[in-house]
Amino acid sequence: MSEQKQQLEKILTDAVLELSTADEVKLGEIEVRFLGRKGEVNRILQTMGGLSPEGRAELGSAVNAVKQKLEAAIAHRRTALQAELVAELGSREWIDATEPGKTALAGHLHPSNAAIEEMSALFEMIGFRRERYREAEFDHYAFEALNMPKNHPARDDWETFFLDAAENEKMGKMVLTPHTSNAQIREMERRRPPIRLISFGKTYRRQSDVTHLTMFHQFEGLVVDRGINLTHLRGALDHFAKNYFGKDRVTRLRPHHFKFTEPSFEVDISCGLCNGTGKINGVSCRVCKTGWLELGGAGMVHPNVLKMGGVDPKEFSGFAFGWGLERTMMMRAGLNISDIRLIYNNDLRFLNQF
Ligand code: PHE
Repeated sequence: MSEQKQQLEKILTDAVLELSTADEVKLGEIEVRFLGRKGEVNRILQTMGGLSPEGRAELGSAVNAVKQKLEAAIAHRRTALQAELVAELGSREWIDATEPGKTALAGHLHPSNAAIEEMSALFEMIGFRRERYREAEFDHYAFEALNMPKNHPARDDWETFFLDAAENEKMGKMVLTPHTSNAQIREMERRRPPIRLISFGKTYRRQSDVTHLTMFHQFEGLVVDRGINLTHLRGALDHFAKNYFGKDRVTRLRPHHFKFTEPSFEVDISCGLCNGTGKINGVSCRVCKTGWLELGGAGMVHPNVLKMGGVDPKEFSGFAFGWGLERTMMMRAGLNISDIRLIYNNDLRFLNQF
């Protein structure tokens, strides 16, 4: 009997030792090997034949006790393994292949880019060619060739950002284009008349408030040909105003002064927020104050500018205009944006409305 008890003890210690490192597969094997019908524990019972009735009873209960301990040890290990598995799975990323896919957002052009495409198409309709010129430009093209010599006070109207680049002997310092009028000279250097240019570009000035941005866009028109006069300018502006703003909006030309045009004008359009009255509910309109909004300048190209572009002013004449893109789109019917800076704040609640 003591021999069998020793064997049972050995079985138990062996099994417990193996269990301590067993994985799920090994656990099943151990269970069968020790507790199975023909397992090691039951095998001890086969030696019962040579024992006294008391001995048999004693062995029987010893075997049962070992079985219970083993079963408990196996169950314990199984629980531990399952807990390990759950912890591991919990830290993994799961993909549910049956979950319906997320609809991809289509997106759309930024309102400014959409406006560029739309406006450009209106000018292309009447024969203008769209070009883009540089935004980091030499002083020569931004000022000098536009009839504004160095140190001329007229330059002060463009609150210019100068670049830290080396100064070019002939072309001067580099600036961030404060207007798109450099396109006039660049285009004349590139093509002989007839010229019908529309050019959209980024422009930079040291200014920022509800109606001004540090970075904004302008579009420049330039027409150079034989016999071009003011009526052609008016015609082009009217074509644009009628098609872009609608029949209700009106433009006006105010005499003005630019060094690069003569005569020069400022083009105004009636404000769409207050309908040209300058007041909303008796309070001064926050955007225009006067009922009119200045879109930008225009005029007949100055003979000196034609010369700087290599065009003979005795043979050719031209008109030019330069407008602010953001103001122009703001003034359009239905686009009553009261603060121009909203356009570039990248707030989707604003942008998604377009
Ligand atoms: N460049 C001028 C501006 O920035 C606008 C303009 C363009 C005026 C062309 C006349 C002709 O205000």
